[in-house]
Amino acid sequence: MKILVIGSGGREHAIAWKIKEFSRRYEVFAIPGNGGFTSIGECIKGDISNFGEILNIVNTKKINIIIVGPENPLADGIVDFFETNGYKIFGPNKKAAFFEASKCFAKEFMKKYKIPTADFEITNSFEEGIKIVEKRKGPYVIKYDGLAAGKGVRVIENFEEGKNYLEEIFIKKIFKGEPKVVIEDCLIGKELSYLIFTDTNSYISMVPVKDYKRVDDGDKGSNTGGMGCYSPPSYFNKELEEEIKRKIVEPTLEGLQKENIDYRGVLYFGLMITEKGPYVLEYNVRFGDPETQVILPRMEGDLIEVIESIIEGNLNKVKIKWKEEKSLCVVIASKGYPGDYEKGKEIKNIDKVKDVILFHAGTKKENGKILTDGGRVIGVVGIDKDIKKLRGKVYKAVETIEFEGKHYRKDIGLEK
Ligand code: AMP
Ligand code: GLY
Repeated sequence: MKILVIGSGGREHAIAWKIKEFSRRYEVFAIPGNGGFTSIGECIKGDISNFGEILNIVNTKKINIIIVGPENPLADGIVDFFETNGYKIFGPNKKAAFFEASKCFAKEFMKKYKIPTADFEITNSFEEGIKIVEKRKGPYVIKYDGLAAGKGVRVIENFEEGKNYLEEIFIKKIFKGEPKVVIEDCLIGKELSYLIFTDTNSYISMVPVKDYKRVDDGDKGSNTGGMGCYSPPSYFNKELEEEIKRKIVEPTLEGLQKENIDYRGVLYFGLMITEKGPYVLEYNVRFGDPETQVILPRMEGDLIEVIESIIEGNLNKVKIKWKEEKSLCVVIASKGYPGDYEKGKEIKNIDKVKDVILFHAGTKKENGKILTDGGRVIGVVGIDKDIKKLRGKVYKAVETIEFEGKHYRKDIGLEK
């Protein structure tokens, strides 16, 4: 069977790795993939926003299943496009992808179905936005409505900051889409990424993950796509999981059914665990990155069986077993990331690391060498029963890998 993964990150490398780990009979392809993907499958050049171009590749390579990694093609309707043409594709359709593509839509949905989320106001007018921030005391949060690659959310401390951000959105129009914002209370607590597989009628929870979003140790510095993560977080337990299912997952699925939204794919709940229990910060309509890099190594069995059952709406017939061991990922990034960074630095000692899995992200293979080609370069992943040993072996590998300007967080998994 031939599987095509759309995307180029560590997430996509991990998805393909998991598929191959279960059976060598699966052949994997990626558009566009990365330097590490070439060791397990074929990378094909292509523009992932051009569905016609992807269709040609799917036909030429006789692909059986397409798996979509990132949110943009989902929001643009890639699933609708391929399903209409009779192909098997994994991910939510355009209507369902609105849960991530519009924060206003997601917030209104949560309000309607009484799913715990920060109190909020929505506006598409600059003047009204100013009136809202005049009333508010910091900290509160302003979120741009549309997709913004993690750059649309800002915690606001005072009126000046609030006014400035509204000006950037409504007047300077720093984001491409319609200017519209959610203004909401700032929640305090511990973040948790809780992902499920679902076909709307039933669901299977994945193992929980703590993602480290800030660039520097101690959660300092700018927000990034994620500098590392581990599973399960120390503050996770059975009672919390029951609460998440009862207050958040199940009401969300009931809401989807009532709204006639046919959601088939991965649904990712970005949660804040507060003193009053779990609250939803956001929905994502795809696997997380780097969450996937620690979730899939803990999964047993055949990911393709799960994916096919979701596409067919039979997820209730499938069971997934998870390994007891913990898993941890440290992302090595290019100098400057999450701001501007240089590319094309040679990555050395990749073949010298032991006892870990390397999921490539921003890398490319050129003349037999692996070069940096993005901000987040490589995720180093380990699995072990003992968190100390696990951190030890992952960081040993992180220190072994060398390229000019590499940086990484040293406190992944140090949570009490
Ligand atoms: P989002 O894209 O909505 O998940 O926001 C990105 C990040 O901003 C989250 O992972 C949190 O770290 C932070 N954030 C978002 N909303 C809130 C909130 N209401 N209170 C505190 N932090 C938030
Ligand atoms: N790691 C956060 C995300 O995938 O959105």
